[in-house]
Amino acid sequence: MRNIYPLTADNVERAAQELCDGALVAFPTETVYGLGADATNDTAVAKIFDAKNRPAFNPLIIHVPGMDAARAIADISPRTAKILNQFWPGALSVILPRTSGSPVSRLASAGLDTLAIRVPAHDGARALLHAAQTPIAAPSANSSGQISPTTAAHVAADLGEKAAMILDDGPCAIGVESTILDLSRDEASILRPGGVTLESIESVLGYAVARGWMDAKDEHDVPTAPGMLRRHYAPDTPVRLNAVHAKPGEALLGFGPTSGAIENLSSSGDLTEAAARLFDCLHRLDDGQFQGIAVVPIPDHDLGCAINDRLARAAAR
Ligand code: TXA
Ligand code: MG
Repeated sequence: MRNIYPLTADNVERAAQELCDGALVAFPTETVYGLGADATNDTAVAKIFDAKNRPAFNPLIIHVPGMDAARAIADISPRTAKILNQFWPGALSVILPRTSGSPVSRLASAGLDTLAIRVPAHDGARALLHAAQTPIAAPSANSSGQISPTTAAHVAADLGEKAAMILDDGPCAIGVESTILDLSRDEASILRPGGVTLESIESVLGYAVARGWMDAKDEHDVPTAPGMLRRHYAPDTPVRLNAVHAKPGEALLGFGPTSGAIENLSSSGDLTEAAARLFDCLHRLDDGQFQGIAVVPIPDHDLGCAINDRLARAAAR
């Protein structure tokens, strides 16, 4: 693909210029690849919704290089800042009220009075944010509803040349999206389990947080938390959970010692390795040669929560 560029200092500068000119740039983070646009530019933000075919009610995560840049767009109390400093930079996105003069496009936040903000830890993403000197709106760089990308090749296969540049820095270290923690309401709630575990959030906060992602739908199947679509991260091939064996025509996706597995998320049963390999395994098993993907049970703790959340949405029909 002509628009894949290695992540060098020169290419980061070029990409920052493209962003400032209103173009889309796909870039690596430690979680998944993002499809970025200048978050203060309505037209650029609209290009993201268009490229992904994303419903306009589904707001975007705003990426900034650090706490000061976060304060310029959202209200952050000293107590909240103390909490966030334990996780930033890293795989945590936090929902906070917009400041009244926040320059972030209303389209990026789907008209909400809150913003999802993230300070990524990936060196290349940080270099890009520093060079662009503007907050970057970036959803995962995949068509809406599809499997998230953990390599530049995944981005190119799905979005082609919809981004002016795809910065390539190899596979993402964490491999599942950031955890989304809502601190904009009285009760702290996790809207999406992800790269930072529930266990570590509760240990920093010192109290239990609501499992908001568990009750994400109303009776009309409309997500109560925007973006928590029941069917998401979905390969074209049907996914079957808690499998013991593969049925004829199915590929078995293993975890821990699994006989007959076509792919194994982690043969040693390591959840960190499994998260890092999850989307790549799904991409590979979704090449049309199997009638189904049967997944063995994954332990539901630590990164297993995020893995099981993604698998449940991939399996929903
Ligand atoms: O790891 C990640 O978070 C990646 C990388 C690129 O940073 N980004 C990502 O973005 O996963 P996306 O668009 O695929 O997921 C963003 C989620 C959506 O579920 C959206 O509904 C939610 O964040 N979100 C964004 N703003 C929100 C808000 N103000 N209130 C509630 N949810 C929000
Ligand atoms: Mg996504």
